[in-house]
Amino acid sequence: MTPDQLIAAARAAATNAHAPYSRFAVGAAALLADGTVVTGANVENASYGLSLCAETVAVSTASAAGRLADIVGVAVVGGMMDHTGAAHGTDPIRPCGRCRQVLNEAAQMGGRDLTVWCGGITGGQVEEHRLSDLLPHAFGPADLCLTIARA
Ligand code: THU
Repeated sequence: MTPDQLIAAARAAATNAHAPYSRFAVGAAALLADGTVVTGANVENASYGLSLCAETVAVSTASAAGRLADIVGVAVVGGMMDHTGAAHGTDPIRPCGRCRQVLNEAAQMGGRDLTVWCGGITGGQVEEHRLSDLLPHAFGPADLCLTIARA
C-alpha cells in the first residue's frame, strides 16, 4: 500500500461524505499494520455541532472491528462540493485538532507514532507528517497514570 494508494482510498471514501451544510467533503483512510485499509467520511448533522469528521469515523470504524491499536497511518483529503455534489481541490487538508487527539489514542494504543498523509481531493501534492509533529505534547494515557498492556 503506497501513500498514493491510501490517498486514492481516502478520495473514494469522500464520495460518501454527508456534508449538506458545509458542502465540504472529507475522506480518510486508515492503514493497519497488516495492510488493511479502513475508511471514513464526514457525517454532518442538522444539529451542526454533532457532525463527525472523516478521520474520527475511520478511527471509530477500525476500533469497532477491534483494530484501534493496529493503525499505523492515515490519509486525509477534502474539498468543496459543487452543485452536482462532486468535490474539488488540490490543496492538502490537515486533520482538525479534535481528530489529531482521536488519532493520538490509536497511536498510544499501538505504541507507535502515526504517519499522516494529507492531500487534495482531486490532485496536488501529498504531504507526509508525523502525528507527533501535528500534535506535540499530547495528552494521553500516561497523564492518567495508565500503562498500556500489549500482547
Ligand atoms: N472535517 C473533517 O471531516 N475532518 C477534518 O479534519 C476537518 C473538518 C469536516 C467537518 C465538517 O463536516 C466539514 O469538514 C467542514 O468543517
